[in-house]
Amino acid sequence: MLTVAMPKGRIFEEAVELLRQAGYDLPPEFDDSRKLIIEVPQSGMRFILAKPMDVPTYVEHGVADVGVAGKDVMIEEERDVYEVLDLKISSCYMAVAALADYTPQKDVNPKIASKYPKLTSDYFREQGEQVEIIKLNGSIELAPIVGLADRIVDIVSTGQTLKENGLVEIETMIPITSRFIVNPVSYRTKAKQIDEMVDRLAEVVSQGGEPS
Ligand code: PRP
Repeated sequence: MLTVAMPKGRIFEEAVELLRQAGYDLPPEFDDSRKLIIEVPQSGMRFILAKPMDVPTYVEHGVADVGVAGKDVMIEEERDVYEVLDLKISSCYMAVAALADYTPQKDVNPKIASKYPKLTSDYFREQGEQVEIIKLNGSIELAPIVGLADRIVDIVSTGQTLKENGLVEIETMIPITSRFIVNPVSYRTKAKQIDEMVDRLAEVVSQGGEPS
């Protein structure tokens, strides 16, 4: 039995579609269910549906053998897992943004709101800028509007959220896509099943997401 940790939310639909294209017969429960564990006995698989930020945690601890996680989450979480394949889905990027009329204040450390405190802290340290980081769990764009933060570090996909909230991008940081990750022990003990999954996914990815 192979346990696959899947991220619920934004990435979920694209990840399910990719697995189907790779030949995995996923039941309709995947499309509209609140279930957190979905068994697919005919494929010898079990899927656990976790918060995106938690997927590497399940895989690191070995309760999931493999999983799908965004590069943003991989950088932030630094979990002890193998990142074996860029699935090239859920493409977006990290950026620093602020209100359109933002001007940095002299002699005051700017406040940066983000869901990614570690990534944000590393980034500004590398830039040589002292900042105060304010960790939030979502709706980051709200922070500058209400005066909680001067700038934000967040995911930009279509740019719509920034635009609708009067924010502009100041710096583009890193491109983000979803990755296929593997628990190091499982990679040895379930090598055959995992290698087959990686090969099938890699084939779909190399064909630009088209079914083989
Ligand atoms: C993400 C991200 C931005 C938004 C970007 O939030 O944090 O807020 O999507 O997408 P866009 O560029 O297409 O507008 P998400 O919807 O995942 O929810 P969150 O605010 O709770 O993090």
